[in-house]
Amino acid sequence: MKINAYNPNIYDQQWNPQEYLRQYYSQDFIPDDEEAIQQRLVAFLKHTGRTFARAIDVGCGPTVHMHTSLAPYVGELHLADYLPENLSTIEQWLRDEPDAHNWDINIKYVLELEAESPVSDSAVETRKQLMRQKVTALKRCDVRQAQPLGESAVYDLVLSAYCVDAATNSKDEWRQWMGNLLTLCAEGGMAVLLSSNKAQRYQVADNFFPEANVDETDMAAALDAAGFNQRRTMIETVPIKTWEELAFNSIVIAIVEKG
Ligand SMILES: C[S@@+](CC[C@H](N)C(=O)[O-])C[C@H]1O[C@@H](n2cnc3c(N)ncnc32)[C@H](O)[C@@H]1O
Repeated sequence: MKINAYNPNIYDQQWNPQEYLRQYYSQDFIPDDEEAIQQRLVAFLKHTGRTFARAIDVGCGPTVHMHTSLAPYVGELHLADYLPENLSTIEQWLRDEPDAHNWDINIKYVLELEAESPVSDSAVETRKQLMRQKVTALKRCDVRQAQPLGESAVYDLVLSAYCVDAATNSKDEWRQWMGNLLTLCAEGGMAVLLSSNKAQRYQVADNFFPEANVDETDMAAALDAAGFNQRRTMIETVPIKTWEELAFNSIVIAIVEKG
């Protein structure tokens, strides 16, 4: 198979939010990476005993999959991505437009984890409304910049799923850009980070996008360098089957506290 040489402008040139949603978020089942993430996120939020005044999802892409469990625990949620077309795709869902992506299967799965029993369609509708209410800003961001939002800003909770690892195939750049991302977390705040594990690239339709080939040890070092307390750090590598052909065969999940 032909592998394109890495193109640093690949997101500017070849990204299509609809193709990404079709490839990774349109199954009629819950992919095993999603199961692993949501189980840990729900357990963390239930047991941590914290709420978060301000949260941000950095590199959210055209997705809201991380927001279902968060919505009851955050005062406001900001969504940030490098590409305006991803933010417009999310806006369609926020406005409940007819062409918007349907996240119901994902939302129902999370609600059932929370309730530990089946939930009704009206419970899904109620949570969707809450998720939409909590989003108070959509922002452009670039993790290559020392200030990814173009201004100094901090949040009590920083989420980032498959973003920095998918932005470069250089581990040195990944280290530096993780440092930039983690400046967004306030002292005493928390971060929830998902990354592919030891992946080289991922496929969307006919295009290949980069992966930084990082693992749990790299994640621990990046967190340490950014001032995250190792004693309060949960970092786990989880094997994944669903995407082994297209992207990765394992992921790293980190739920960590700064300071
Ligand atoms: C693999 S997608 C992940 C999307 C979403 N978080 C998810 O969980 O499916 C990678 C995302 O990183 C974003 N991205 C790429 N380069 C970036 C950069 N320099 N700064 C911020 N986001 C970037 C892309 O626009 C894309 O939305």
